[in-house]
Amino acid sequence: MKIACLGGGPAGLYFAISAKLRDSSHDVTVIERNRPDDTFGWGVVLSQETLDNISANDPVSAEAIRRHFAYWDDIAVHYRGQRILSTGHGFCGIGRKQLLRLLQQRARELGVKLRFETEVDSAAPFAATHDLVVASDGLNSRIRTELASHFKPDTDIRKCKYVWLGTHQKFDDAFTFVFEETEHGWIWAHAYQFDADTATFIVECSQATWTRFGFGEMTSDQSIATCERVFAKYLGGHALMSNARHLRGSAWLNFPRVLCEKWSHENIVLMGDAAATAHFSIGSGTKLAMESAISMADYLHSEVSLHAAFAKYEQDRRVEVLRLQSAARNSLAWFEDVERYLHLDPVQFNYSLLTRSQRISHENLRLRDKAWLEGAEAWFQQRAGVNTGRIRRPMFAPFRLRDLTLKNRIVVSPMDQYRAVNGCPTDWHLVHYGERAKGGAGLVFIEMTCVSPEGRISPGCTGMYAPEHEAAWTRIVDFVHAETDAKMCCQLGHSGPKGSTQLGWEEMDAPLEQGNWPVMAASGIPWSPRNQRPKAMDRSDMDRVRDQFVAATMMAERAGFDMLELHCAHGYLLSSFITPLTNKRNDEYGGPLANRMRYPLEVFRAVRAVWPAHKPISVRISANDWVGEAGIQPQDAVEIAHMLQDAGVDVCDVSAGQTSTLARPVYGRMFQTPFSDRIRNETGMATMAVGNIYEPDHVNSILMAGRADLVCLARPHLANPYWTLHAAAAFNDPDERWPAPYLPGRDQLYRLAARGETTSV
Ligand SMILES: Cc1cc2nc3c(=O)[nH]c(=O)nc-3n(C[C@H](O)[C@H](O)[C@H](O)COP(=O)(O)OP(=O)(O)OC[C@H]3O[C@@H](n4cnc5c(N)ncnc54)[C@H](O)[C@@H]3O)c2cc1C
Ligand SMILES: Cc1cc2nc3c(=O)[nH]c(=O)nc-3n(C[C@H](O)[C@H](O)[C@H](O)COP(=O)(O)O)c2cc1C
Repeated sequence: MKIACLGGGPAGLYFAISAKLRDSSHDVTVIERNRPDDTFGWGVVLSQETLDNISANDPVSAEAIRRHFAYWDDIAVHYRGQRILSTGHGFCGIGRKQLLRLLQQRARELGVKLRFETEVDSAAPFAATHDLVVASDGLNSRIRTELASHFKPDTDIRKCKYVWLGTHQKFDDAFTFVFEETEHGWIWAHAYQFDADTATFIVECSQATWTRFGFGEMTSDQSIATCERVFAKYLGGHALMSNARHLRGSAWLNFPRVLCEKWSHENIVLMGDAAATAHFSIGSGTKLAMESAISMADYLHSEVSLHAAFAKYEQDRRVEVLRLQSAARNSLAWFEDVERYLHLDPVQFNYSLLTRSQRISHENLRLRDKAWLEGAEAWFQQRAGVNTGRIRRPMFAPFRLRDLTLKNRIVVSPMDQYRAVNGCPTDWHLVHYGERAKGGAGLVFIEMTCVSPEGRISPGCTGMYAPEHEAAWTRIVDFVHAETDAKMCCQLGHSGPKGSTQLGWEEMDAPLEQGNWPVMAASGIPWSPRNQRPKAMDRSDMDRVRDQFVAATMMAERAGFDMLELHCAHGYLLSSFITPLTNKRNDEYGGPLANRMRYPLEVFRAVRAVWPAHKPISVRISANDWVGEAGIQPQDAVEIAHMLQDAGVDVCDVSAGQTSTLARPVYGRMFQTPFSDRIRNETGMATMAVGNIYEPDHVNSILMAGRADLVCLARPHLANPYWTLHAAAAFNDPDERWPAPYLPGRDQLYRLAARGETTSV
């Protein structure tokens, strides 16, 4: 087979090597615009896993690479005058120049032809004369641009500015992050050793800081001199150097995230940065390039045709690429938003940095550096007011809101049971909530409980508008208080435009088949074409509903609830005021966000006035309508939270969506937690995170990184009311209280857990 690799970086060279290794009769040429020893940048990082992969593919080049590796285990973070060190991270680095030299040498040995100083302008002449053309021409791939209508690239230019420098200062004991506050804003460096006397030193900052520094007007030498001044105390008198006379490296850049819809066209295939990029902060660009080269070489030989090989290559590699790009996106977004975290205590800041890509979990950090993590856990407990010296997971730290102390950070999220009769809770609710309270969560929410019959979502929803409701709730709360140390939160709501609909397990949000009652909302916009058109509330409706909330609050207080939540999310009545999708009012309750918040805040203030001062109130919001600019976006949610905070709301319960049938949520593990993170760290308000959080590890990492103060789990508590107690057993934490009659069950569970077994089937 006659093969041309257009571009002699890691992708092109390693594919040439891998193809030759599989069939030495291939006629392979690598065409590279630079001279053999020219290169941009400094060192690259490879993981042990990548080393294993390249060893299996070609032990000879792997061994050569291994011999030139600089290894380090530690990550050091310089921040606010402290240097925090954690270990067990296992990296290795190699100079990019050295790596290319070794790959060129190996390629030559195997009979690959290397043509340097040859500029490729188009893939066409190669496609006509070769069986296979590999477009390995890097980030700014000309071939990808030439065939853009086939590859359909999507480039996302990211916000930070960075420059890739080198230094002879030694960073050989740790991968080092340095965060420096200057008169122009924060600026930071990622530094790592890659050979005996040289380290990579990438300097990065926000666009605003970069502009204030005036880097845009500086020459390369002036930029470097400025960076040397900023980081002088870490450089030990050594200079910063730029080695790139080339396109990349000397200049400040914005990282472009590249993704292509297709990776092949006719006999041309994209590889490495030309196909997809991963931000340098997770150090995976070279890994992706080399592992994609292995995969393509494999399929070239296992498949019957070139096109079958392309299809397999794409199928195989795309998942891995998307996985890494997702981790890279989390990581680069963390750096883009780093100013949000710069108020954190150094311990929490370090934890947040280490877990930024969400690839390293809480327990994984323990495997890496137990002592460091236990120190961080001790710090967390101390901050929560615990001074026993016992090291416990963050989820088992207490939390205080006004005079209410929750024994731990686990919350049973509100979940409608659709089991009420005329708004009255039944024995179902007694048993259901009783079980969840026995199960160990610190706070148990009751479902959205409606302030009037017409404010119910469905005929099965609970209410707080009749004496028998108050009595039934009192019985449930009394049981929980008598038999457990869980606290109870009453979520009050009004269904608004989503009222008069079917039970959750029937057709959700669809109108009743018979017996519909009239509904109302901020504006006369039906939830869907099938739902009723709600009455746009006038002032007397607003007064009446506000007073209903107040009456329900007083009943909740008499029923003994410890906490109250106002439901302002998910498209129900108060939410219908907040989102611009359903609030089209022309009065002072419509228009800008401050106006749209006016009525929900009025209700909150009225409720707050009658709720005892020592008891807290939370507000649940939809922090993202998931419809883009037309609806609420996370930055609007920060504004909403500011308004709630100013009004005296104690906690923001950060949910999202369910406000429009047009919503296109992006689901995933902990997918709504970034909204809580943003609100908590931009406003300083306490938050609850919710949404697809199901493992103790998720909870601990959210809390430890300061992304929320409390964590709500809904569906996991339907499947297992004892979720918290089981988590405590899995961690061999003896301090969570079990109901006395269940102690033999607890003892067995702990014994089994200690042996790595469970009683579950
Ligand atoms: C600041 C920074 C830090 C990084 N750190 C790391 C790290 O720690 N670990 C890691 O794994 N990766 C890192 N990377 C990414 C890594 O450098 C790339 O992902 C990797 O080099 C991709 O390999 P490639 O062969 O696809 O592209 P490249 O290495 O870019 O190679 C493409 C080659 O094609 C040549 N070429 C381009 N156009 C033409 C043309 N028209 N004609 C002829 N030749 C052409 C270029 O000269 C180049 O040699 C970093 C990148 C940056 C910017
Ligand atoms: C059956 C069911 C009923 C729900 N009812 C309510 C409710 O009454 N009030 C509310 O705010 N959220 C309600 N939710 C949303 C949950 O509180 C939670 O936000 C959502 O399920 C995401 O959390 P999870 O991934 O842990 O399930 C309900 C969810 C479920 C599954």
